[in-house]
Amino acid sequence: MALSETDTASGNQNSFVYVVAGLAALNGLLFGFDTGVISGAMLYIKDTFDITMLFGQSIHPSLVEGVIVSGAMVGAIVGAALGGRLADRLGRRRLILIGAVVFFVGSLIMAIAPTTEVLIVGRILDGVGVGFASVVGPLYISEIAPPKIRGSLVALNQLTITSGILIAYIVNYAFSSGGEWRWMLGLGMVPAAILFIGMLFMPESPRWLYEHGDEETARDVLSRIRTEGQIDAELREITETIQSETGGLRDLFQPWIVPMLVVGSGLAIFQQVTGINAVMYYAPRILESTGFGDTNSILATVAIGVVNVIMTAVAVALIDRTGRRPLLLTGLAGMTATLGIAGLVYYLPGLSGGLGVLATGSLMLYVAFFAIGLGPAFWLLISEIYPMEVRGIAMGVVTVLNWAANLLVSLTFLRLVDIISESGTFWLYGILSLIALVFCYRLVPETKGRSLEEIEADLRNTAIGTDPGETDRTDAVQTDD
Ligand code: BGC
Repeated sequence: MALSETDTASGNQNSFVYVVAGLAALNGLLFGFDTGVISGAMLYIKDTFDITMLFGQSIHPSLVEGVIVSGAMVGAIVGAALGGRLADRLGRRRLILIGAVVFFVGSLIMAIAPTTEVLIVGRILDGVGVGFASVVGPLYISEIAPPKIRGSLVALNQLTITSGILIAYIVNYAFSSGGEWRWMLGLGMVPAAILFIGMLFMPESPRWLYEHGDEETARDVLSRIRTEGQIDAELREITETIQSETGGLRDLFQPWIVPMLVVGSGLAIFQQVTGINAVMYYAPRILESTGFGDTNSILATVAIGVVNVIMTAVAVALIDRTGRRPLLLTGLAGMTATLGIAGLVYYLPGLSGGLGVLATGSLMLYVAFFAIGLGPAFWLLISEIYPMEVRGIAMGVVTVLNWAANLLVSLTFLRLVDIISESGTFWLYGILSLIALVFCYRLVPETKGRSLEEIEADLRNTAIGTDPGETDRTDAVQTDD
């Protein structure tokens, strides 16, 4: 076998890989902070601006509120749509730098916005930065990482997403007494500045360099993140997989790539329609109806944020040992069960006291199961399963789907609760989790311990029928550890 037995970078190389991945994972911090901060800020923005008017027209305030909140998701859809292409054209590192600048400017504009309209522009820009970050963060880390620890390193990005959400919850809490929403939103400039300055000192992805004809620099970078013996083998593998200078949208629909397009799109949509962001965005509201007061539900929300971070850390520690599939499937089974229980608890009359605690407990467990599986596994798998020639664009496309589904859930959640009640909504998410479980069981490949080039070679072989396990996707990209 190729790299998997010789690929543990030792000594200096290994620590430098951790530095590069850790820094690039700050992309996730922007993402998470942006996700978590708005619910807190929104409470006070309403006191500063007249949100019944937009561009001189009188508009329903909840619509204006919706535009402010979801403006970032619309921006992220645009950012992800452009991000894949730009990552292939400009390089991974340059796009991370651009994303950090866009996010910084967006946060600054929000912090000093004189009107609702300017605030919305800032929020959309922020979202574009997050859209770039969500594509290029995992992509860059997966290309820098040695196969043996790639899972943990890419999952670091999910750890920083969850940390960003938690930090935002805490920031909201800290600034809530004075209602200082400008500080809440403006603080996003801090991680953006750290990411920008740090990335100035980080190398470009050797795979991208090599594909763009700069073998010398690619070798140079590899010499800092691999041991001597691994460099030639890795470059040989990369050469074998570089077929042509392509990477257009049409190339995604080549028959051998389509199965992975289905897998990535399915994971992207299921990651959202199983309801995680209903909890992330609306937790205080959901918990209030269990009999918690205002402060307690905010504290319980912080506790949910903590559970999310801790269980993601567990996934980071496990994912290269257990593989992706066991965590993903366990997580989905757990999500299905806990959503079923949450729905039942909300269905019973008299939701306070013991039942209220049970409701909160089941939601926390639901988040824990998401954090151990679908949360990190989605971002990791989509950075692994696509061939080099379309990796950027394919990740861009599925990330757009992920943001679009995110927008759909956040726009429909409250309406769904009105129509089918909380229990109906949780059961709906539960049924979707069950469908996701079957989908992942049948279609998602195991990528543990394989080099990106081996994964790609398996994909080609499977498509042309030379792989004995060709009909079984779980074997097609199986580890041989
Ligand atoms: C999802 C986000 C979600 C977060 C929660 C990420 O993997 O893509 O939409 O808010 O996890 O931890």
